[in-house]
Amino acid sequence: MLCHLGNNSLTVHAPAKVNLFLKVLGRRADGFHELETLMVPIGLYDTLHLEPASFEHIEFSVWGHGAARGGKSVVDQQSEIPEGRTNLVVRAAETLREATGTSAGARIVLHKRIPAAAGLAGGSSDAAAALLGLNQIWRLGLSQAQLHDLAARLGSDVPFFLSSRAAICRGRGEIVEPIRWATRLYFVIVRPHTGLSTAEVFKHCRPTGSKWSADDLAMTLAKGDLGLAGRQLHNCLLEPAATLNQDVEQLRRTFARLPVLGHMMSGSGTSYFGICTQRKHARTVAARLHATRIGSVFTVESRP
Ligand code: C5P
Repeated sequence: MLCHLGNNSLTVHAPAKVNLFLKVLGRRADGFHELETLMVPIGLYDTLHLEPASFEHIEFSVWGHGAARGGKSVVDQQSEIPEGRTNLVVRAAETLREATGTSAGARIVLHKRIPAAAGLAGGSSDAAAALLGLNQIWRLGLSQAQLHDLAARLGSDVPFFLSSRAAICRGRGEIVEPIRWATRLYFVIVRPHTGLSTAEVFKHCRPTGSKWSADDLAMTLAKGDLGLAGRQLHNCLLEPAATLNQDVEQLRRTFARLPVLGHMMSGSGTSYFGICTQRKHARTVAARLHATRIGSVFTVESRP
């Protein structure tokens, strides 16, 4: 979502996602895992402000949730937002410069709201937003297909965020098949006090079966049968994440006692979500979760 300001500067809203379905099909020769996942963008956003600069480098600062300065306290190392060249936003900018040969500079300010190490792909979404935004303010004219190739180099989830529509993603995540359904989904999401490293969770995962597929769930959503959709939620990474992180196990038990349509961990965790019937229901469930002090609680909707 790009918003033009004056001066050729841009504001880009970078949404988080949740995985309603994630099946690990096997480990590949390149060390990555073959996936079948259904992802939905949600109304929890980071914001990037991008501005072309007269200098020939990338000036980058980050504020907000998990940032080392100006933000809330960081409770574990996993949850810290990387600064400087280790941040995917800067890597996206440098990948664009290398690919196009431009020596253009930019000032980029990232306001974080999406927690890190949470399975919500905040960093990947920021990187996609940087690719889209810089392509515009540097007037590079790269096509969606060219941006997709660069996005896939940056991370498995990055291509999904170029369109930020619900999609089934395959391969290591970079093969994106957009899907549609009419029903809005209401989520309660809890990010516990600790995070998990994606690489670590994948290292401990084993392919586990579900009698359903991502296509089955997409069809159920298209029919608007949220009761069945709640039962079809699946994530192969839940078991390894719950073994590595007690907060995830506690969330699984807590959600099992709540009146939600279905519940599951998102991505490689540690965020855990429940699906509610409507906004008011989500707020009621959120209030019960707040009371447990188990972590940060968000009520969000799927992005229309
Ligand atoms: O692609 P991305 O950099 O987001 O992946 C982070 C880590 O998660 C990888 O280094 C890899 O260990 C693991 N991963 C995987 N299979 C995938 C996606 C990620 O093993 N399909």
